[in-house]
Amino acid sequence: MVNIEEIRKEFPILESRIYDKPLVYLDNAATTQKPKCVIDTISNVYTTMNSNVHRGVHHLSQVATTAMENSRETVRKFIGAKHSHEIIFTRGTTESINLVASSYGNTLLKEGDEIIISAMEHHSNIVPWQLLHARTGVKFRVIPLTGNCKLDIEAYKGMFNEKTRLVSVTHVSNVLGSTNPIKEIIDIAHSNDVPVLVDGAQSIPHKKIDVMELDADFFAFSGHKIYGPTGVGVLYGKELWLETMQPYNGGGEMIKSVRFDKTSFNDLPYKFEAGTPDYVGIIALGKAIEWVNSLGIENIAAHEHELTRYAVEQLKTIPEMRIFGEPDGAAVSFLTGDIHPADLGTILDRLGIAIRTGHHCAQPLIDHLGIPGTARASFAVYNTKKEIDALIQGIKRAVKMFTQC
Ligand code: ALA
Repeated sequence: MVNIEEIRKEFPILESRIYDKPLVYLDNAATTQKPKCVIDTISNVYTTMNSNVHRGVHHLSQVATTAMENSRETVRKFIGAKHSHEIIFTRGTTESINLVASSYGNTLLKEGDEIIISAMEHHSNIVPWQLLHARTGVKFRVIPLTGNCKLDIEAYKGMFNEKTRLVSVTHVSNVLGSTNPIKEIIDIAHSNDVPVLVDGAQSIPHKKIDVMELDADFFAFSGHKIYGPTGVGVLYGKELWLETMQPYNGGGEMIKSVRFDKTSFNDLPYKFEAGTPDYVGIIALGKAIEWVNSLGIENIAAHEHELTRYAVEQLKTIPEMRIFGEPDGAAVSFLTGDIHPADLGTILDRLGIAIRTGHHCAQPLIDHLGIPGTARASFAVYNTKKEIDALIQGIKRAVKMFTQC
């Protein structure tokens, strides 16, 4: 059990008033708010230990390096990875997927090879493969959806052939808030000797992740969606793949030695961490994960699950409400009658309620649904049923305004 009132006190921004109304922040799938301990960590690093990592023999550099590597170990434990050198720090999920598309793609793929993605992917898990296609001629195929917006697993099983080299799918849809059967997806791929990259951007804040139990080959996520700072994320990769893949970016500490005629690369994980890493963000991400651990991810998940169930139940009381897919996570996408989602979002904003509207960076899914976009409410551990009641009242008010027009 989590004590929401106590938790809310840890988030200074939740005290805000928007247009003189209390903030109701329901855009957590886009980014979560930050607890004071994370904000303080950022300030504390700059105040007490700021120094470039892995480069200095001096005291401050050692302290900052130790703190950064402690964060790597915190992440390792949190996702159940075997080795801390399998944790690569990136700028976020998008960069993590681009890293795999570039490094795995350039090293192991050739023209005519095939990747499998799905029809509910975020642009971050579509465009890197299109860029790879343009560079190398590697093709991608798309798992279709069933009538209720689930991945068509039977169709997926039939998509493998001798040219299939990678499956890259989202764990939880950022639009639908529904969870894909990721273990089954991985098992099917492995039975075809094909590795799997999991886009965990929308699952990491809401579910216990164990990459070894899943047997995921790669797992990508962003720090800012799990109460951490922006600009920092993670790519987990099995050692075997990371050892095989060529580096993504060049420069900084990703080398062992550089000569004009030959450069040799550093060991994992540094081979993939060119340039000065965002050590401040990485240390703060470690703090965010410690904070999540202090609540217990299962407790967080149970609370969010109940919020989602309640939100769906309440939304269904509104006439002409359409809910897309079968949300089982922490987000719900909907449309109300003919009200354009952007109009609904604007009206709710004037009531202090923040939701996301539009295509949610998943245009192919929105096109598949044949709609202009959706309104999406998404939840975090600090949200309450009272806030969902405010959302429902806000939508009803918008409906009334539009029916009077
Ligand atoms: N990917 C984030 C979202 O779904 C930004 O809102």
